[in-house]
Amino acid sequence: MSQEILSRADRGHDAPARRRLHPLPVRVMHWVNAAVMMVMITSGWGIYDDDVIIHGLIFGSFFRLGDWAAWSLNWHFAGMWFFAINGLIYLIYGLTTGRFVERLLPITPRDLVHTVVETLHFKFAHEDLTVYNAVQKLLYIVVILAGINQVVTGIAIWKPVQFSGLVSLFGGFQSARVFHFTGMVVIVGFLVVHVLLALIVPKTIWAMLAGGPRLKPAPQIRTARKS
Ligand code: HEM
Repeated sequence: MSQEILSRADRGHDAPARRRLHPLPVRVMHWVNAAVMMVMITSGWGIYDDDVIIHGLIFGSFFRLGDWAAWSLNWHFAGMWFFAINGLIYLIYGLTTGRFVERLLPITPRDLVHTVVETLHFKFAHEDLTVYNAVQKLLYIVVILAGINQVVTGIAIWKPVQFSGLVSLFGGFQSARVFHFTGMVVIVGFLVVHVLLALIVPKTIWAMLAGGPRLKPAPQIRTARKS
C-alpha cells in the first residue's frame, strides 16, 4: 500500500499543478490591507498629533487623515474593522491552508546572512518569484506580528476600562500607547522597504495583481509500505 501526504494547501479545490503563487483570496486581502493600512497610518498620525509621545515629533496636516483629532478618530475606528476582519481572515487562511508554513518557513541564520550579503552587493536575485528569500520571509513574519500587536494594543487603548487587564499587561495606558506607536513605526519601516523592493522588481507587483506563475506541486512526502 502506498501512502501520500500532501501539503494541506495542495488539497484545496485547486489541483497542485494549477495553483498560482498568489491565489485570489491572498491578492484581495493584500490589496484591501494595503488601502486600509494607509487610512490607519495617516488617521493614526492625526490622533497622535493631538497628544504627542515624542516631544517635537508632529506629523502635520499634510500627512494626516482628518482635519482634527475627532475626525482622525472617526477614520481610525471605521478603518479598524476592515483591518481587523481582513487580517483575521488572512491569518485563518494562512494557517489552515498551510500557506504560512509553505511560504514563510523555514528561515535559517545561514540563509539570512547569505541574503544580506547579496543585498549589500546590490544583487536582488528575483528570477524565481515562487521562492521568498530569508529576509523577505522574516520581514513578512515581523509585519504580520506587528499587525497583531496593533489590534491588541488598539483594543487596550480604545476600551481601557473594559480591558483593564490587557492595559496592565502592557504596563499601563501610556505604555500601551507606546507599544501601539512602535508597531506603527515597524509597519511604516516595513512599507518603505517593501514598496521600494516591489518597484525595483515590478514583476512582483504584477504577480500580486494577476496571481503570478503557477506553482510546481509542493514537495510531497511519499512513504511506500508493503501490506
Ligand atoms: C502600496 C503598497 C504595497 C505594495 C505595492 C505591495 C506589494 C507587494 C508585492 C509585490 C508582494 C509580493 C512579493 C513577492 O512576490 O515577492 C507583496 C506581498 C506581501 N505584502 Fe505587500 N504591498 C503593499 C502594501 C503592503 C502592506 C501595507 C502590508 C502590510 C502591512 C503588506 C504585506 C505583505 C505581505 C505579508 C506579503 C506576503 C503575502 C503572502 O505571500 O501571503 N503589503 N506585497
